[in-house]
Amino acid sequence: MPVILGLETSCDETSASVLSGSGDAVTLESLVILSQDVHRVFGGVVPELASRAHLTSIVPVAERAMADASVSLGDIECVAVTSGPGLVGALLVGVSFGKAIAHGTGAALVGVHHMEGHLFATSLEHPDAVPPFTALLVSGGHTLLIDVEQWGSYRMLGATRDDAAGEAFDKVAKLLGLPYPGGRPIERLAGEASEEEARRFRFTKPMLRGDQQLGDADYFDVSFSGLKTAVLHAVRGSDNLERDARGIARGFQDAIIGTLVEKTARAAAAFSRRRIVLGGGVACNRALAVAMQHRVAADGVAVYAPKPRLATDNAAMIARAGLFHFERGVRDSLSLNAYASMPIPGMANP
Ligand code: KG4
Ligand code: ZN
Repeated sequence: MPVILGLETSCDETSASVLSGSGDAVTLESLVILSQDVHRVFGGVVPELASRAHLTSIVPVAERAMADASVSLGDIECVAVTSGPGLVGALLVGVSFGKAIAHGTGAALVGVHHMEGHLFATSLEHPDAVPPFTALLVSGGHTLLIDVEQWGSYRMLGATRDDAAGEAFDKVAKLLGLPYPGGRPIERLAGEASEEEARRFRFTKPMLRGDQQLGDADYFDVSFSGLKTAVLHAVRGSDNLERDARGIARGFQDAIIGTLVEKTARAAAAFSRRRIVLGGGVACNRALAVAMQHRVAADGVAVYAPKPRLATDNAAMIARAGLFHFERGVRDSLSLNAYASMPIPGMANP
């Protein structure tokens, strides 16, 4: 059974993981994630600092992942590494390190698309989170609604037209004076709002009209810049932000979740899917998972949300997607490069 080493350095997490198994029967042997706290000071990821931090931590992180899994370099049959999309300088650290291991040990090298990794992540925790399913990937950089007919065969249904969902959480958090990244602080603050406060700050769910039809350009797409502006006006209009922040956070979260849930439910219905799989950092949001479950339960659709370690950036999902391609015979050469943007393999547009 193949033993795979996964490496992820596309943004601000240095991560390595060892996975063994075949097909959908895989065992997560280890997962190490080192989050770079330095970016908090700047309120966003500073690319040059990210690259340098990856450089100093990739070797100990990979060594730790192998030690936790009780494997040595000679046991690794395949190195799966994120080759894009992401920060090129950050990606290059993982790609170069992965190439060095492949060259030194003779292991196969497989470059993995970061977002395809997110599609596989939830299945590491929930064995039923396998195709066919509707996927909602919501992170700091992406908001994608994808129909997954089978592994490797995807259809892009919708995306954001401006900010990613996580980006919207981060920007609203900044308006409310909350720390970066803002998703968790917003969720916590929203949870403290009373129903009365929630009613006072009700925002329109963006990109959602009752008369939208399958085939309309905005049927699956989302947009959050208008909601962000509405929050800005509410913040400016408040004479006591300390008192109103809870209600504003709740109103914002209700609106963004309302849109994400409705668009995902539409996608599941359009393709008669019985499963919805959430992924990306925003999938840590419990209110999102609960609202999604609530919306589709009557239709007999199951919702799978990964635990935070698998929802946010991690190397286990890269190893899992890499295993899929490795078993289909995919091999990259030592000229594998890193790309800021790249198409998801197997993706068809409607
Ligand atoms: O997938 P991820 O770790 O990194 C990217 O690839 O972007 O996602 C990070 C994003 C951030 O925008 C963060 O604010 C958001 O996920 N996030 C959340 C929550 N936890 C993290 N958003 C909403 N609710 C949360 N509980
Ligand atoms: Zn990600």
